[in-house]
Amino acid sequence: MAGRIPQAFIDDLLERVDIVEVIDRRLPLKKSGRNYSARCPFHEEKTPSFSVSPDKQFFYCFGCGAGGNAIGFVMDFDRVDFPQAVETVATLAGLEVPREAQSEQAPQQQKRQRDLYQTLDAAARLYREHLRRHPQAKRAVDYLKDRGLTGAIARDFGIGYAPPGWDNLLQALGKDDSERALLLEAGMLVVKEEDNKTYDRFRDRIMFPIIDSRGRVIAFGGRVLSDEKPKYLNSPETPIFHKGRELYGLYQARKALRHLQRLVVVEGYMDVVALAQYGIRYAVATLGTATSTEHLQKVFRHCSEVIFCFDGDKAGRQAAKRALESALPVMEDGRQARFLFLPEGEDPDTLVRARGTETFERLLDGAQPLADYLFDSAGEGIDLNSLEGRARLSKLAAPMIGKLPSGVFQQLMLNALAQRTGLSNERLDALLKPAAPAKPSPKPNVKPLQRRPLPPRNEIHLHPILHAIGLLLLHPRLAQHAPPSNQFNHLSGETATLLRDLLDLLHKRPEANTNVLLGHWYDEPWRHRVEEAFNQVSLLLENVEQLNLAAEEGVESELTDTLKHLESSHIEMQLDSLLRKGSDLNAQEKQQIRQLLSQKDSKH
Ligand code: UTP
Ligand code: MN
Repeated sequence: MAGRIPQAFIDDLLERVDIVEVIDRRLPLKKSGRNYSARCPFHEEKTPSFSVSPDKQFFYCFGCGAGGNAIGFVMDFDRVDFPQAVETVATLAGLEVPREAQSEQAPQQQKRQRDLYQTLDAAARLYREHLRRHPQAKRAVDYLKDRGLTGAIARDFGIGYAPPGWDNLLQALGKDDSERALLLEAGMLVVKEEDNKTYDRFRDRIMFPIIDSRGRVIAFGGRVLSDEKPKYLNSPETPIFHKGRELYGLYQARKALRHLQRLVVVEGYMDVVALAQYGIRYAVATLGTATSTEHLQKVFRHCSEVIFCFDGDKAGRQAAKRALESALPVMEDGRQARFLFLPEGEDPDTLVRARGTETFERLLDGAQPLADYLFDSAGEGIDLNSLEGRARLSKLAAPMIGKLPSGVFQQLMLNALAQRTGLSNERLDALLKPAAPAKPSPKPNVKPLQRRPLPPRNEIHLHPILHAIGLLLLHPRLAQHAPPSNQFNHLSGETATLLRDLLDLLHKRPEANTNVLLGHWYDEPWRHRVEEAFNQVSLLLENVEQLNLAAEEGVESELTDTLKHLESSHIEMQLDSLLRKGSDLNAQEKQQIRQLLSQKDSKH
């Protein structure tokens, strides 16, 4: 028997596929506003009430309440079970579905990873401690002060110091063979070739911990205090650190700002830290690698606008071109990318210190939109007054535009190119897609699952637990303000278990989005409950537009009220059983009643 499909794979798959693409292959979609619509395949209808949100990556039908993510759609439409639907979606994404080994290996691997996180966490603590107390830390502290860093910001970013010496870390954290093996696997030690002896990788460097989106230290960058080379030393790739995926500062940005409106991508650690110190807490840096599409997918999961900030030199322009290439495939409608080139010789760190926050933010506000930059960079050195020049521009720009996801933005870009070159849209279309592959339409031979239309909105009486679950599914970030799951231990039943599990999951993974959350409960009866909550709450919110744009504030108070109600139901229950005792109450019980009553008051 095949093993379970690892949850991490399902999460990853859901992050990678585009639900619009998955559904459009089975059910042609029409763009309408930010979303896509069609006549619902799950119930009979004349006017389309089936809607797909590319932002939130889920579908929803206002007629029958069907709703879910890409995998859920395939399950219902193709009438297949969960593993089969995962296979289908994975094939589309070009991925092979891994299976957990039936042996003990998986838990062992997990334990190993946990040990690695712990090791790195201990190292980060040690470095911070050294920065404060090590006899040779003064140079490091002076260096940081010299660069204008405050203690507060050093703390926010967990900056530390690896003192000089070959084995400080080794001595402190590598007491036995197994600890040393962990340090080595975590990338903190280097093996000398001549004699196979190990020593500390980072020596006499300022240490920047790299933190993943769940708040765990996964690697380090270390800067020398002098002009020595290499200036920065980074952890190598390890089982828990993949340079090409991580963005330095993302965790801190998300922690500092509840609503990330935009993210600025800069080149260096110090740029992120300096900007944060000047109140621009939304900068992230790649780790000495070019900006990849994977990086940008990550960025766009957190906000809809990215500004690339490059040095004004040749290397900066080169980096910008690569960033443009990486950005094109993820520029779905509603997303924005802009480019800012700093004056030669400046980087964000020096600039913000010299000119201040306001000037820097003004520069950001004036950054060049992707559209302009694309034509500028494609048209570099081309004379648009000549026929040849215009032909050349279309040759260069059309393939770039071809990389954009199809949508309104792509169409606008095409129009703009037509305007610049004088070529007709049709001619350009041909350049764009030399041979558009025919859409495979795997018409399933089974009829999709049919549902009954929903009752009118005002007839929905949602149980508060389901209500809370639905709100959390739709607005996962609200979980940061929710009480811990154990506050709901008094509630019994499957739905209550689901609420607690969801709170725990969101506590561990604050970055999880609706799409991915829906992928966590596919076994019955959970799937049924999750969908019920999701669908009913979606319905209460009236339409998907509103789901996208819903002022989180409004929803937040709705959630708070619902959870308070659930919490206080515990108090009510206790009160109830005490009061039922009538006059048999002892002093202690009377005191308890007074306490419960005042608790009850404070919750309202
Ligand atoms: P820069 O050389 O532009 O340095 O490297 P910086 O960020 O301005 O550093 P400061 O201000 O002198 O401290 C930009 C980024 O490239 C990577 C690092 O991630 C660095 O932040 N880099 C640079 C390395 O990985 N290794 C190096 O030797 C140099
Ligand atoms: Mn710098």
